[in-house]
Amino acid sequence: MAFLRLQDVPGPMGWSAHYDLFRRRLDMGVVLREISQAHGDLARIPIPGAPKVLLSHPDDIQEVLATKAAMFRLFGQDLLRRLIPWGQIAIEGQVHDDNRSQLVLAMRKILSRRIPRLSLEQCQRGLAPLRDGDMLDLYQFARDVTLAMSSAALFPQAAERELTGRVDPDAFLKILSNTNAWLLGIPVVLQKMRHLAQLPHTLQMLRLRRRVHAQLRESIRLVRQRGASGPQADALTLLTDGSEIGGPLRDEFLADNMMTLLLAGYETGHNVLTWAMWEAAHREDLQTHLAEEGSRLSDDPEANNEWINTAPWTDAVVQEALRMYPSVWTLPRQSLFEYRLRDHLFDAGTIFYTSQWVTHRDPRWFPQPDRFQPERWLEAASPSVKGEADSTSAVVEKPAGRVKHHPFAFFPFGGGKRFCLGKAVFDFEAGLLLGSLFREWRLEPVQNCHPRPRFYVTMQPDPPPLVVLRRR
Ligand code: HEM
Repeated sequence: MAFLRLQDVPGPMGWSAHYDLFRRRLDMGVVLREISQAHGDLARIPIPGAPKVLLSHPDDIQEVLATKAAMFRLFGQDLLRRLIPWGQIAIEGQVHDDNRSQLVLAMRKILSRRIPRLSLEQCQRGLAPLRDGDMLDLYQFARDVTLAMSSAALFPQAAERELTGRVDPDAFLKILSNTNAWLLGIPVVLQKMRHLAQLPHTLQMLRLRRRVHAQLRESIRLVRQRGASGPQADALTLLTDGSEIGGPLRDEFLADNMMTLLLAGYETGHNVLTWAMWEAAHREDLQTHLAEEGSRLSDDPEANNEWINTAPWTDAVVQEALRMYPSVWTLPRQSLFEYRLRDHLFDAGTIFYTSQWVTHRDPRWFPQPDRFQPERWLEAASPSVKGEADSTSAVVEKPAGRVKHHPFAFFPFGGGKRFCLGKAVFDFEAGLLLGSLFREWRLEPVQNCHPRPRFYVTMQPDPPPLVVLRRR
């Protein structure tokens, strides 16, 4: 059988297509969607360098991210590798799989023992200063609360104060955002100059990395001195001590993975929550549902563990925000070998872009995809439905009322063996924050504030969404 090759894949052609991509690089998700709509499920992306293909069909995405994941490496992680070379999101192969099992255990333990109490405390602390009639920047509010929740769960209290006092995690993100040039549609020769242009950012990033690492090393030394973890242990203590997770993490892994958890643990979540609050602010009926469900939150943290299962509207708002505004909006993979997909044969080194932004907004899977409609997650209630693309089991039990989708038509947390380790943490924190906010406050969107998604390393709203607070 004769296979089709890359040159047979449809897609925009010529220098004007390159230029268009470069010009609209912060709208990259929008551009990819246009390419998918114009050229179909398998489309060529006109970025110079290694051949690049956009995959929009859930079956193909599943193959690349999950069933045939061993044929691919991560792509576009150069900067992350410089920042956190031993972080879970940057490492590959056996070492990734080994590290994963220890991290999974640690995440489970902090989720059951530590997060309910500390997240509630941090949430209440974040809400305390709000006043009737205040104008609230939702982006900053969500960022401050999620960062506080994350660091409280991850670090022992003393270390948390030291770390967050001295290091601004936003600084890392700004650097990452400024240097996502791997996506820019610039010719290969100019890509060399890109490194020169990035030099100040790179130096700044390496300085920050040194500072955070020094601080983390000091925290690790203190944790080791203090000894065994105890039932309320934070992630740093669990990973350093190792007795509850099948052995301690090696030193270089420890520091890089604490940094990974801190960054991955708040930046992604706070973007989604910003959009969730902003969209809810436009619908009085949704706010009423959220307030009603939030009013059933308890001041006893342990009692809230099962609360989200009885709060379908809150759950649906979060799902819909993850669908329309997936903070991780693309997962590119590069093939290590010659790769056959459908009737095409691609050379080793081809880069395959999967994009949550593109596939989540495809009307074949989500009718009226550009409308924020949490109701779509509530229709056709079923007691056991297929949820996200989990790595551990093909079918994930969800609260009754969730609609069934192809697991890779909706994949905000990735899939396969790299499936997000913090999903359950995010689910819990997101529900808690929305419930606590809406039970006390009604939000009114500020006139003439029109945030739109910008496609940095994560997808962020620009300008920040502003609301006026009204006490219920
Ligand atoms: C809305 C919130 C979140 C979103 C959308 C999200 C998304 C993702 C995605 C798409 C991946 C897969 C990356 C890939 O395949 O290359 C991932 C991996 C990961 N996430 Fe999340 N994440 C979120 C929250 C969190 C939280 C709260 C934590 C930790 C506290 C976390 C920790 C991680 C880690 C450690 C990995 C690497 C997993 C591995 O490779 O084994 N994430 N996340």
